[in-house]
Amino acid sequence: MLITRTMKMADVIHLDHHLLPIINRFTIQLGFEDKTVETVCADYEVNTEFFLEIINTYHDLSYFPLQNLQRFKASLLISYLQRTHQYYLTSKIPEIEQFINQLAFSNKIEPAHGKLLIDFFQSYQTELTTHINREEQKVYPYVKRLEEILSKKSVKQQIANELLSYSILQYEQEHEDVEAKLYDLKNIIIKYLPPQKDSSLCNKILHDLFEFERDLNNHGRIENLILVPIVEKMEKELAQLLKKH
Ligand SMILES: [Fe+2]
Ligand SMILES: [Fe+2]
Repeated sequence: MLITRTMKMADVIHLDHHLLPIINRFTIQLGFEDKTVETVCADYEVNTEFFLEIINTYHDLSYFPLQNLQRFKASLLISYLQRTHQYYLTSKIPEIEQFINQLAFSNKIEPAHGKLLIDFFQSYQTELTTHINREEQKVYPYVKRLEEILSKKSVKQQIANELLSYSILQYEQEHEDVEAKLYDLKNIIIKYLPPQKDSSLCNKILHDLFEFERDLNNHGRIENLILVPIVEKMEKELAQLLKKH
């Protein structure tokens, strides 16, 4: 069942509470009263169409409206992707790290196992941060600049050269997924830590890791299948514009 603009936002949460962090990413917070999706979006000055497409791709994995999403402006997509990065780095990662430290320094597991978990998670954090920094510092600014130049309908040669020195193809080729290591981390907990009397903390960590993995997967899919084609189209437009000069 897809989420529509006339549904009550409260019912959306009752239907799929996993959407809460995604909804928050649009700066929308709880306290929906009986307002519809459309009204809540208007209250927060959020583009309802874009909100619905993103929420539905997350809610229903078989729903991936390539065409619909590709009609949005790159900058709109980028601000969503940036807020997602922000959520990972300032909320999700610290939360998981806190649970992992709690487990590692408890008397539930051997200190050597605790150290293994901490080291593994730290190297994962470094990998994720490097991945995000490259997007935030290199790729997204390039896309925003491209969009800005195209909106002016004219381009100076110097700026054109600067833009032509990079291509989204480079990003497409280098863009690796950041979920693989999470699978290994889950397996350390699922398979290799000795059984404990009470698994609740491990269960909590696993639950968070599965949720985070799903979120990353969706995020990467949006970058590869939506952002890249939008930018490829923009690069073609730039080439056309330069031909006219
Ligand atoms: Fe990203
Ligand atoms: Fe990425």
